[in-house]
Amino acid sequence: MLALTDFSARLIAWQRIHGRHDLPWQNTRDAYRIWLSEIMLQQTQVSTVIPYYARFLERFPTVTALADAPIDDVMALWAGLGYYSRARNLHRCAQVVAFEHGGAFPQSVDELAELPGIGRSTAAAIASFAFGARATILDGNVKRVLARVFGVEGFPGEKRVENALWTLAESLLPDAAHKDDVTAYTQGLMDLGATLCVRGKPDCARCPFAADCVAKVEGRQRELPAARPKKAVPTRKTWMLVLKDGDSILLEKRPPTGIWGGLWSLPEAADEAALAAVAHSLGGDEHLQRLAPLTHTFTHFKLDIEPRLGEARGVPRELTSAETVWAPLARIDSFGLPAPVKKLLDALTGSLI
Ligand code: ADE
Repeated sequence: MLALTDFSARLIAWQRIHGRHDLPWQNTRDAYRIWLSEIMLQQTQVSTVIPYYARFLERFPTVTALADAPIDDVMALWAGLGYYSRARNLHRCAQVVAFEHGGAFPQSVDELAELPGIGRSTAAAIASFAFGARATILDGNVKRVLARVFGVEGFPGEKRVENALWTLAESLLPDAAHKDDVTAYTQGLMDLGATLCVRGKPDCARCPFAADCVAKVEGRQRELPAARPKKAVPTRKTWMLVLKDGDSILLEKRPPTGIWGGLWSLPEAADEAALAAVAHSLGGDEHLQRLAPLTHTFTHFKLDIEPRLGEARGVPRELTSAETVWAPLARIDSFGLPAPVKKLLDALTGSLI
């Protein structure tokens, strides 16, 4: 495993040569400018932020100017950036800094993290960029980098995994002797995550950690960090009747609301015996033939379908109503059918006609 002291030295060396150095919020120690950029960058990518950042600074050159502005002006300037609670918190934060801190941002991570809209990672970014504090960031990009390089298992959104990542991130900081390098280090974490160690196709060939990275060495870049665990979805089971009379199939209109609302579908029942009774009531034979089961996945549940084929002979077509129709198999595509019903009937069509 990569020695922890090597990590920061290698990252800093890489950042100095290959990292980003000319973003509009770099090359300044002005906490207001740095804070503004970090809030905008929380959920928005660099290219989108740049013009907003310029307009904000032009309109509100200082934290006091922002604090004094009507909230409507701030919201109007934020429009299009999304996540609007950020703009409301931005304004409140500016007021706290202007009116309770005399217009100067506090310098410690803990005090910064108490301000509206500033979490632990953003506080660390501001403290390290503006004040050279030895504090680690841990945003989504950094979680991905660390999970890959050090092979941290588990979904990073889970508290236990997140705590482990914070502990790891803290332990990786350049030591106190290299405090001057903290800006390059923090920027390096961001740059690596944003430019090489990206989610989709990481550019491992250019990564300074390729030789030691657990994900790279084990070929597990797609598995690390682990994805959010899928919630177990409940399963429901239904029996569906394919009632055939000559070359037609009986379809029923679904109620207007609920799943498949308003579509044409097959008669259903909660079990085999109930389905036989349904077949009988519709003029069919009670003897039903098993067909291959299928499963359909909805967002909130899975539906196991047990289809049965039944025969009816010469059912009077007067039985057709607004709610039921004998649909010729050859014209089945002209009815709006739920996807699994269509799949089922398509599979059958070949063998029935
Ligand atoms: N994302 C969050 N903070 C950033 C920064 N300072 N530079 C580039 N991307 C970032």
